[in-house]
Amino acid sequence: MPIQSRITGLGFHVPPRTVTNHDLEKVMDTNDAWIVERTGIRERHFVDPGTGSSDLGVEAARKALADAGRTSADVDFVIFATTTPDWMFPGNGVIVQQQLGLGTVGALDVRNACSGFVYALSVADAFVRMGRYRCVLVIGAEVQSTGLDLTTRGRDMAVLFGDGAGAAVVEPCEAPRGILSWALHSEGALAKELWCEAPSSREAGRVTHEMLDAGRQFPQMNGRQVFKNATTRFPEVIHEVLAASGHTLDQVKLIVPHQANRRIGDAVAERLGVAPERVFQNIERYGNTTAASIPIALTEARAQGLVNDGDLIVLAAFGAGFAWAGCVIRW
Ligand code: COA
Repeated sequence: MPIQSRITGLGFHVPPRTVTNHDLEKVMDTNDAWIVERTGIRERHFVDPGTGSSDLGVEAARKALADAGRTSADVDFVIFATTTPDWMFPGNGVIVQQQLGLGTVGALDVRNACSGFVYALSVADAFVRMGRYRCVLVIGAEVQSTGLDLTTRGRDMAVLFGDGAGAAVVEPCEAPRGILSWALHSEGALAKELWCEAPSSREAGRVTHEMLDAGRQFPQMNGRQVFKNATTRFPEVIHEVLAASGHTLDQVKLIVPHQANRRIGDAVAERLGVAPERVFQNIERYGNTTAASIPIALTEARAQGLVNDGDLIVLAAFGAGFAWAGCVIRW
């Protein structure tokens, strides 16, 4: 039997502070009705000062390990996906290694934004399938709130994002179970349609006063361009990974997409021709948590009884880069 890899444990963690749309109305010119209608988001979680994305990731990782029935001693590799690391360097992977007491295992950092978790999962799958590692901890975690322009100037971005973390334990298994196929894509020509320029190695001192005054340390987005590309790339990559694994859409129990926007999720369901309830969405309570959104959604979907042994599950992501990715799993 060929060795495959499968997710043996899942967990997520969000900071306790809930920020509703009405809370945002107090700091910028926005309103609950606009946010709900355009995005489906009602609330998100923000960290309190001093908490970094590694802290959230460590909590999610502890839960995923417990869920898998594993301890720190079992982990032989860590992959940490985040666009919002605690520091410029080193990456968050080594912080997790130290916090969880993982000996001197390797720690890899992934920066593919909203697609980061699927990119990281594909690396874990490859390492496990080649027989190199047997218990890989894959984490997606973000603290977006400290990097948002929480004023009217930044409202188009600020209302979308939230903080959180999700994690998965990836271990060997025998076919036909496990991760069956994945696909990874990017289109750097559109990088500046969704990006954050500063701090930048192109600038002496990495960030200048002019940059700060102009708000170039905050993420910028062409919302319509993102929407248009996302609603094309999601269905495209879902069809691609299903063709690669030899399945059809009607065999899929649940699609768990990156939670960018409820309207994007609804449009993807419509374009695929699947019932909306087969596309899992929990964005209304978390906002867009970037690399954390898929593992948070997958953990919740399983807790709700929507992901069971034998089910065919599709993960799909799209975001900054643009980068997008998909993955088929036999649970
Ligand atoms: N509250 C109230 N009004 C807002 C607002 C906010 N938070 N943000 C923008 N507006 C205003 C705009 O200023 C604009 O006003 P104007 O018509 O007076 O100029 C109006 O609302 C419409 O803005 P527009 O950008 O045209 O809205 P839209 O219909 O394109 O919706 C998004 C904006 C961001 C919701 C939509 O483009 C989208 O969902 N894009 C994808 C975003 C995404 O998922 N990004 C993450 C990808 S991983």
